[in-house]
Amino acid sequence: MAVQVLSESQRRKWDASDDALFYAEPRFVHHLDAAFRQRLTALYSERIPAGSVVLDLMSSWVSHLPETTTYASVLGHGLNEKELAANPRLDQHWTQNLNRDQTLPLDNGSVDATLIVAGWQYLQQPEAVAAELLRITRPGGQLIVAFSNRMFFTKAPQVWTDGSDRDHLLYVAEVLIAQGWPRPELISEQTRASGLAGLIGAKGDPFFAVIATRTAQP
Ligand SMILES: C[S@@+](CC[C@H](N)C(=O)[O-])C[C@H]1O[C@@H](n2cnc3c(N)ncnc32)[C@H](O)[C@@H]1O
Repeated sequence: MAVQVLSESQRRKWDASDDALFYAEPRFVHHLDAAFRQRLTALYSERIPAGSVVLDLMSSWVSHLPETTTYASVLGHGLNEKELAANPRLDQHWTQNLNRDQTLPLDNGSVDATLIVAGWQYLQQPEAVAAELLRITRPGGQLIVAFSNRMFFTKAPQVWTDGSDRDHLLYVAEVLIAQGWPRPELISEQTRASGLAGLIGAKGDPFFAVIATRTAQP
């Protein structure tokens, strides 16, 4: 049983209809700009060793993993079958509405690194998801939750729509710690827009990440 952090009102969202309806049609678009995506791929290069079993939770048609790194396998989860089928990085995938069912169909300690990109902000039961992620992560494995300052407003619970960027970082960390994850590392960075605009000082989507590493067993 997960340790509850949110109140019932913090879980509410404007559009309470089934999330599967909102994601019924595939969206072959980028949800984050090139500057953010570049920073994310660089982070993955630094942190996820080749040969890892990777889970891209709340994925789409892109996983942002470095093209030159080979992993043991990349598992993908999301809400739209067509998007996941079109994602060239995924070896296997499944669809599951995490706001209805948080139990992940994966064995204990079977994943080296789980990635959630622009997804946590839609979770209404983040505590149960965080507890499941701890269960499936091998000792020493990690969870990387990345996001920016955008969202589908009607689909994000109140805890996210009401919060600042800083609140979001602290909220993700609080939920993880409450489930037994060690204190995570927090990253908060500006990015530079790509191309000419960046050269003259334009900024890209801000980059935020929460990185938690499961304690290695003695
Ligand atoms: C903004 S998209 C980000 C997709 C992808 N991670 C990326 O970087 O392009 C949000 C994703 O969250 C996932 N998602 C949203 N609500 C969900 C829910 N209730 N259950 C499971 N996944 C959900 C879907 O996979 C959706 O594509």
